[in-house]
Amino acid sequence: MIIKKAVIPAAGFGTRFLPTTKAMPKEMINIVDRPAIQYVVEEAVDSGIEEILIIISRNKEMIINHFDETPELDQVLSNKDDKSLLKISKDLASKVKIYYVRQGDAKGLGHAIYCAKGFANNEPFAVLLPDDIIDSDVPVIKQLIESYERHEGTILGVQPVPKADLSKYGIVAGEKIENDDMLVSGMIEKPKIEEAPSDYAILGRYILNPSIFEMIEKTPPGKGGEIQLTDAILLQKDVENVYASVFSGVRYDTGDKLGYLKATVNFAMKHPTLSDPFKRYLEKVDLD
Ligand code: G1P
Repeated sequence: MIIKKAVIPAAGFGTRFLPTTKAMPKEMINIVDRPAIQYVVEEAVDSGIEEILIIISRNKEMIINHFDETPELDQVLSNKDDKSLLKISKDLASKVKIYYVRQGDAKGLGHAIYCAKGFANNEPFAVLLPDDIIDSDVPVIKQLIESYERHEGTILGVQPVPKADLSKYGIVAGEKIENDDMLVSGMIEKPKIEEAPSDYAILGRYILNPSIFEMIEKTPPGKGGEIQLTDAILLQKDVENVYASVFSGVRYDTGDKLGYLKATVNFAMKHPTLSDPFKRYLEKVDLD
C-alpha cells in the first residue's frame, strides 16, 4: 500500500506564543524564511505525499491564504528579470493538493485526526504535527513510509528523550525487532517519570492504518479531558500490530520558545546565503 495522503493538525490555540498568537496562527510564525507549517508540508512533499488535509479552526485563514495560488503577485514577480522570487512563491502549490477541514471544538489530537476520516477514505495516511520540525537527511515521513512497507501496520516515529521530558510526550514500550523498528507493547500519554515504560517518545510523526477511526470512536477522554490519539492507538494495538520506528534527524519543538529559537539558529546556519554572515555575527555576539 503506497502512502500518498497526509494530515496536518493545525487547530491549536498556540497559547505558549501569546500574545503573538492572538491574531496570528502559531503555524505561521516565521522560521528564517518560511512559516513553520511550510517546513512540514515540504517534508511531506519530499516524502512523496500528493494530498494533504490541514485541520484548522477559527482564525486560521492565514494558513489557507499562504498555500493558495497568488495570480496578482505572480504577475508582478514574472515582470522582474530575476525569476527566483516567482519560483519561491509558486513552487509548492504545483507539487501538492491541499485541502482543509475545520475542527469546530478543540477536543484533542484524537478528535482532530477523526476529522480526516472522509479524506483518508479507508487508506493508511501520514500525520505530521507542525510543532515538531525535524532536520534530517531523509525526510522523516519517508523513513516511516519505508517502515510501513516492511510491516503494513501503524508506525509511530520515536526517539529517546531525557527523563525530565518524559511527561511532555506519548511514551511507548516495545521490543526491538529489525532495523530501527520496535513492536509496540504499550504506551502512555504524558506519563509521570515513574510511570514511563521507556524513554522512547512519539515525536509528531505517524503512519496510521485507517482502523484508527473506529478506535477513536471508542476512545474516552483521557489526559486533560481530551480525546488522545495515543489512547486510540493503544486500542488499535489490541487488534493489530503497531510499530515504532526510531527515526534519524534532529527534532525541534517549535511550539516552545526555546525550541523555536534553536530551530531558527539551526536553519539560519544551513541557509545558502545567510549561513556565512550569520556565523560571523554569532562569533561576535557577547555572551556575557
Ligand atoms: C502530542 C501527542 C504526544 C506526542 C507529542 C509530540 O502532544 O499527544 O503523544 O508525543 O504531540 O510533540 P502535544 O504536544 O500536542 O500536547
